[in-house]
Amino acid sequence: MKNIFSYIRNFWFYGTSVFLLMLLLSLLALPTPYLMKYIFDDVIPKKDIKLLNFIIISIFGIQILKAFLSFLTNYLFSTLNQEILTKIKKDLFSKLLRLPLSFFDSQQSGYLLSRIYEVEGLGFFFSNSFLRILIAGGEFLFCLGILFYLNWRLTAISISILPLLFLSTRAYSRKIRKISKELMEKNANLSKRIQESLSGIELIKSFSSEEREGEKISFSLEDYKEANIKRSIQFSLSSEIVGFIGSAGGFIVLWYSGWKIVEGSFTLGTYIAFSAYLAKLYGPTQIFANIGLSLQPAITALKRVSELFELAEEKDGGVKISKLRGEIEFRDVYFGYDSKGDVIRGISFKIKPSEKVLIQGPNGSGKSTIVKLILGLYKCRKGKILIDGYDLETLSLSSLRERISFVSQNLFLFNETIKNNILYSRPDAREEEIVEAVKLSGAYEFIKNLPNGFDTIVGEGGKTLSGGERKKLSIARAILKDSDIIIFDEATSELDSGSEERIEELMKERFKGKTCLLISHKPMNPDIFDRIFRIEDGVLKELKK
Ligand SMILES: Nc1ncnc2c1ncn2[C@@H]1O[C@H](COP(=O)(O)OP(=O)(O)OP(=O)(O)O)[C@@H](O)[C@H]1O
Ligand SMILES: [Mg+2]
Repeated sequence: MKNIFSYIRNFWFYGTSVFLLMLLLSLLALPTPYLMKYIFDDVIPKKDIKLLNFIIISIFGIQILKAFLSFLTNYLFSTLNQEILTKIKKDLFSKLLRLPLSFFDSQQSGYLLSRIYEVEGLGFFFSNSFLRILIAGGEFLFCLGILFYLNWRLTAISISILPLLFLSTRAYSRKIRKISKELMEKNANLSKRIQESLSGIELIKSFSSEEREGEKISFSLEDYKEANIKRSIQFSLSSEIVGFIGSAGGFIVLWYSGWKIVEGSFTLGTYIAFSAYLAKLYGPTQIFANIGLSLQPAITALKRVSELFELAEEKDGGVKISKLRGEIEFRDVYFGYDSKGDVIRGISFKIKPSEKVLIQGPNGSGKSTIVKLILGLYKCRKGKILIDGYDLETLSLSSLRERISFVSQNLFLFNETIKNNILYSRPDAREEEIVEAVKLSGAYEFIKNLPNGFDTIVGEGGKTLSGGERKKLSIARAILKDSDIIIFDEATSELDSGSEERIEELMKERFKGKTCLLISHKPMNPDIFDRIFRIEDGVLKELKK
């Protein structure tokens, strides 16, 4: 992350206002005990009702002002908090979208989702609890000064319990922190389990393992429950003990003051003011003792969020292209995913514009990988890839991808209407164009038979459609895009026999002047292809030239 403070800077107006308001609020809380002392020690003995009325009205006025300012501060705080966190979340999500595909290979989406939510933890920096810490120091010193002024001996006695208060709060907050961490971990595990079970529901049912899965979850739930109970017990125990130590201070003051009042060296007003200011010391003391506990999650969140912001984005060459002739050249290209070793080993070929190429080869030989390299989704380790003679590394990736229509082997549909899914490749397409694309891909028949037609929602990932129907929609989406290079990865698998001929038709007619790469396991009519490649174990052989 650039810096969390750069976000605050954008909201400096809110930031400064809330800081000043908080300061004013804590200043406003200071005079009341002193005014009370004044009433008991001076006003009542003198029987000055007018002055009494005036002071009471002033105290009342201060309370009203405090309530109003407190509301305003909370309002500004929640606005500031939400504004900044939302901005950070937006930035973080766009950042994630710009990361290279290789990053996502090693991450689970559930995990990344939880990382985005960790931004919430930063909220502490823009909360009144954080400003309270900043202001607590001043308040503490101020009250301590007044206490010494009121009676230094009693002050010395009553602050002697502060270290005890500090240490006990600290000890308990450490314990609670440990339990809270445990609880978070258990919660994350529980959510992971539940999410996994629900997404594998089809598998669970087909193996009738509902009971087994249910048991797994109830085990995690029990575990979570235990940790929760442990935390509540620890919480109430610590608040009782800390509360007791605090009240012990009050008793000491009462006892000492009573004694001194009887002796005549102490006034009732001084006692009242003294206990009120003393109570104001205990608050900041506990805040200081808790600093670690309250800051820790926010600092952890800051570290983890910053880590994501610092990741390297997809490298983009920047040279924009508006149209491609469709020439694709590999020059002795080597590539491997991470540690696994090379899956593409010294591949060279040159596909001329408008050529139709069939790529065949066994599972795992590297066919889809070649396509991902052409799209610039991964960078080759050695060698060069040229598109229209431009080195791929120098091109603007988005402008390149705009000129390529790609039907992936791993189809993906958004949980939206059929129409929106097709329009995804070209949002400004006209109605007739959509219908034409759908007719060419062979999807028209089944869409027409759906009760809601083009407005049918396809379900998560398109799960309410059959495998072949999903494929036909993806092909329609690619046809609509109307680009210069067409790549179909396993476009004919899952399709019925009639559809295969439709693809051949497409290649001959619609994609006539365009470069087409078709990956297929099925034997296809060799006549429609200019060239046929066979990949085996990352090495390319040309079967037809
Ligand atoms: N994201 C990835 N991370 C790591 N290894 C991968 C990744 N994608 C593919 N591989 C590996 O790279 C090799 C080539 O995969 P590729 O998908 O290119 O095969 P393919 O020829 O398309 O196979 P299929 O006919 O099954 O589609 C395989 O051994 C595979 O395990
Ligand atoms: Mg493949």
